[in-house]
Amino acid sequence: MADPLHSAPQSTFTPRVFSGIQPSGGLTLGNYLGAIKRFVDMQDQGIETIYCMVDLHAITVWQDPAALRHQTRELAAGYLAAGLDPKRSILFNQSQVSAHAELGWVFNCVARMGWMNRMTQWKDKTSGKDAEKASLGLFAYPSLMAADILLYHATHVPVGEDQKQHVELTRDIAAKFNHDYKVDFFPITEPVIEGAATRVMSLRDGTRKMSKSDPSDNSRINLTDDADKIASKIRKAKTDPEPLPETMDALADRPEARNLVNIYAALAGTDKDAVLAEFAGQGFGAFKPRLADLAVATLAPISVEMGRLMQDPAEIDRILGDGADRADAIATPILDRTLEITGMIRSRRR
Ligand code: TYM
Repeated sequence: MADPLHSAPQSTFTPRVFSGIQPSGGLTLGNYLGAIKRFVDMQDQGIETIYCMVDLHAITVWQDPAALRHQTRELAAGYLAAGLDPKRSILFNQSQVSAHAELGWVFNCVARMGWMNRMTQWKDKTSGKDAEKASLGLFAYPSLMAADILLYHATHVPVGEDQKQHVELTRDIAAKFNHDYKVDFFPITEPVIEGAATRVMSLRDGTRKMSKSDPSDNSRINLTDDADKIASKIRKAKTDPEPLPETMDALADRPEARNLVNIYAALAGTDKDAVLAEFAGQGFGAFKPRLADLAVATLAPISVEMGRLMQDPAEIDRILGDGADRADAIATPILDRTLEITGMIRSRRR
């Protein structure tokens, strides 16, 4: 496969990676395989990488303040424990760089209500009468996400499949801004959605996404789960009585089996066909213990390291403060230029 970071057609913009995660609850295996693990891999590709904890997005639904602070530090601990190096990547929480909210406002004036209304995540969260009770921030959520990305002129955004539509909207916002103001100022960002686990499904129902908001804890593996819990959740994962087939096509109607094969491939850093080549003809009695061993070997050390890092919240806050300073240094000139383009006077001496 072509290397997505080096093959995009945005020759005028220096490649730069940005992505974010909401500190709105615990981290799941879905966040790890769909996002964090890939963020860590991208650190080694010779491109600037910027990763954010999007606390301003988190408060689009109610967050208890003490819990939000704890979850933000825990998310930072998760990034670090998974191998993110705050020297090689910029790691920070969104609210410490005020330019996010400011550019978000400009994009609220660029994006159209109709675009927001078409967002499937908005529709899912506000089906029926719930729309009346949703915060205005939840409606404008994708516009702030576009600001996160474009504030750094990011060219590539690694995300899981569920964020694809939001990154496409970011492209629409960039294109409309460039068109309306007759500039070529914002890049048309590429979503990077690749690997074996861009959509990790629930362990209880292979047709639903693994999510921190699922009421059943057995539906997901949390990055804070210890070795016993990880193994027990995999043992209890829903499957079917058939042996594993030789091809992925033969798993088309077996969502739970397909999900476990995807998880295995992503954890092992191999492809799905290689997993099937090894396990074809074997049932889940043989496959699950191997998957459990692999998951425990990969995830349990992360959980232990997160616990260790959480013992020193001041050190986490220091890393986030340092990251925010570095993020701010990139963001501020881009925000200034954006405001200038829109016709605002920028005469303050800093
Ligand atoms: P969030 O916090 O819901 O999820 C963070 C990342 O984890 C991925 N993910 C999954 N991947 C595979 N399988 C799953 N079951 C799964 N669940 C979650 C998500 O796709 C995402 O990559 N709107 C974003 C946060 C955000 C953002 C940004 C992302 C705000 N600004 C700018 C990129 C760039 C969100 O709610 O992700």
